[in-house]
Amino acid sequence: MSIQKTFVMIKPDAVERGLIGEIISRFERKGFTIRALKMVQLSRERAEELYSVHRDKPFFNDLVDFVIRGPVVAMILEGDSAIDVVRILIGSTDGRKAAPGTIRGDFALSIQENVVHASDSPESFEREYKVFFSPEEIEG
Ligand code: CMP
Repeated sequence: MSIQKTFVMIKPDAVERGLIGEIISRFERKGFTIRALKMVQLSRERAEELYSVHRDKPFFNDLVDFVIRGPVVAMILEGDSAIDVVRILIGSTDGRKAAPGTIRGDFALSIQENVVHASDSPESFEREYKVFFSPEEIEG
């Protein structure tokens, strides 16, 4: 048993489509505890910081335009092996290839507009959650 925190962001496509409750519910039903939660309109600067590892990718500008086109819901989840288990629950990046039963497999049909983001490592978690939360906003 290794209790871990991870960072999750529900993207603008999912907020527009009314999927916030469905997505949060899946994480809760799996057994994760929500330690922080907020709805945010990202500035271009903060979106570029969140996705700084993709700065040199051809899709970077489109990705930033997408995540700032409307509000996102940011959260910190905690539970056993949270980083790996949440990545399994959300499914492959490309919604067209994500397995049915995963969040992207059930709700995404695009590689860019893929409904949700989650940290892929402890290092990513440390960088990503700080784009959204200050220490006093995290419970536990
Ligand atoms: P995410 O898990 O948030 O991490 C980076 C994001 O970039 C990814 O989900 C997609 O939204 C987007 N992305 C990754 N690969 C591509 C691609 N080939 N074309 C367009 N967008 C991409």
